[in-house]
Amino acid sequence: MRGCKTSLLVLLNYPSLVQILLTSTNEKMKTQEYIDREDLYGAHNYHPLPVVLERGEGVYVWDVEGKRYFDFLASYSAVNQGHCHPKIVEALVLQAGKLALTSRAFYNNVLGEWEEYMTKLFGYDKILPMNSGAEGDETALKLIRKWAYKVKGIPENQARIVVCDGNFHGRTITIISMSSDPDSYGDYGPFTPGFVKIPYNDLEALEKELSHPHTAGFLVEPIQAEAGVYVPEDNYLKKAAELCKKYHVLLAADEVQTGLCRTGKLLACDHEGVRPDLLVLGKAASGGMYPVSCVLADDEVMLTIKPGEHGSTYGGNPLAAKVSLAAMNVLFEEKLAENAERIGTIFREKMRAFSSPLIHEVRGKGLLNAIQINPVAGKQAWDLCLVMKENGILAKPTHEHTIRFTPPLVITEAQMDEAIGLIQKSMREFI
Ligand SMILES: Cc1ncc(COP(=O)(O)O)c(C=O)c1O
Repeated sequence: MRGCKTSLLVLLNYPSLVQILLTSTNEKMKTQEYIDREDLYGAHNYHPLPVVLERGEGVYVWDVEGKRYFDFLASYSAVNQGHCHPKIVEALVLQAGKLALTSRAFYNNVLGEWEEYMTKLFGYDKILPMNSGAEGDETALKLIRKWAYKVKGIPENQARIVVCDGNFHGRTITIISMSSDPDSYGDYGPFTPGFVKIPYNDLEALEKELSHPHTAGFLVEPIQAEAGVYVPEDNYLKKAAELCKKYHVLLAADEVQTGLCRTGKLLACDHEGVRPDLLVLGKAASGGMYPVSCVLADDEVMLTIKPGEHGSTYGGNPLAAKVSLAAMNVLFEEKLAENAERIGTIFREKMRAFSSPLIHEVRGKGLLNAIQINPVAGKQAWDLCLVMKENGILAKPTHEHTIRFTPPLVITEAQMDEAIGLIQKSMREFI
């Protein structure tokens, strides 16, 4: 009886759910009905734009009412290869019909092929597969700590890892222990110790912490994407790598978002010729088709972890391996790094040339860009995203006043021109 009363109250708050219940299953639900159902049954840990997508192809997505949009988020850079790339779909379907998951209790006939491909491509001795980007970063942190005790000789439980203010490495308890964003860490304590935060793009602060004899690693994003696309000064990473070498500290680059052609090179580290000791990849490693992440490192680091000391049921499964191989090939076959470089430059030039009191700054590299907007009459970046949505552009604010513009890297110049027109039209309508 009590449950019945609660359900009635809930339904009163969500009138369109009553509609769903009354609608025959053959009839198509409306946007608001989908949104209400997610609100009712799903946790409220995201704040999505009010659009319900049902189909994607290349740079476009379509909502349930048939409206087409340019996807300028690309699933936080997981869909670099474009939505539903036919070659990646084909790899997924073929392998799914053969063998999807074995666990690492047994060998499978695909994992080694992917491991060989990835290690040769990036130039490391070994690769360790996981699923999410956060797991990739957690793995890197564990490797740094193992190496600290087994190789560098830091006393037990004393290893320090240096990270930067404004970092984003995921959502686990340990990772948010490194965060400086109260939305990420608030009310989740107690936190994992052992991290030292320094300002981003500050080599002096870095050297001070690296010189501490218990410092084992420096985990850094080559460009801070989630923080609002902050590009450090030229040669920051190169000098950071030199300092790490000087103090015998491991440099771990989190390229989960910046990697795989997003910034106009295969890796953002490549802009400065830096080879990190640990390289963390995720997102576009599968072209958005399946969760695939990994850490690459040489034997001195990777072999500090022994059998049974780390792993994941899904990590390294044959489906993930085949999907990732296909996704990686698309990056090269379609020259996506070159395209990101060329089209990204066009985006920045045209948006910088566009005169609008709304634009505070246009920044980025390749197709990892952001526009910081001046709040007008109490309106925020979110409000501009709503106007852009009406005009057929999907983008999302990262923090209050910044909007990230990160379309799939398959975008053509003509498509970018059309999209820029729609963004500028939205800005004109906004004020
Ligand atoms: C730099 C970076 N690292 C790690 C992550 C976490 O990846 P995931 O959401 O797959 O756990 C993200 C996600 O946005 C990221 O941008």
